[in-house]
Amino acid sequence: MHPELEAFAASIADCTGCGLCEGRKQVVFGTGNPHAKIMLVGEGPGANEDKQGEPFVGQAGMLLDKMLIAAGFSRKSNVYIANVVKCRPPQNRDPAAEEISACLDHLREQFRIIRPQIVVCLGRIAAQTLINPNFRVTREHGQFTQKNGVWFMGTYHPAALLRYPANKVDSFADLLQLRDLVEELGLCELDYGG
Ligand code: URA
Repeated sequence: MHPELEAFAASIADCTGCGLCEGRKQVVFGTGNPHAKIMLVGEGPGANEDKQGEPFVGQAGMLLDKMLIAAGFSRKSNVYIANVVKCRPPQNRDPAAEEISACLDHLREQFRIIRPQIVVCLGRIAAQTLINPNFRVTREHGQFTQKNGVWFMGTYHPAALLRYPANKVDSFADLLQLRDLVEELGLCELDYGG
């Protein structure tokens, strides 16, 4: 479907760039439309993702998919989803700074190939890595900032929404802001799953 992206995925399938390779079942590269103008970036694979080889396939992923479709987005049609680190951190701990920096070139290469116009950071780790090292989700979620011609926005991580559902309202409002920007820029068709 996208030869360059597929070739890149194959080239890092046996990556040993950091210690996370020791505990992983597989590298979780990314999923969705490789021609999408919108990329969502999470933190790193959990147990389900490690097993299935696809980002956000557990409970948090189901919530993410539901919220996305209600706002007009889906991994089948108009977004691409990846993570800051591509291998599962043991016990689902936060990825360490050296693991993030070892993996960051992989994400940069995905950006270079896919060329998203908007990047949505799901949770603190992605937002602090890609937007601002001091990013506070509670304070700065939903704010769009432009870097090198690409719009970035941080919002709640769906796993955090499972733990604290009251924040779903704000998180969904962020997705509606995303939809507004997509419509303003005329980036893609919306998909409500009909
Ligand atoms: N959490 C993430 O940050 N990414 C996934 O792929 C799954 C859960």
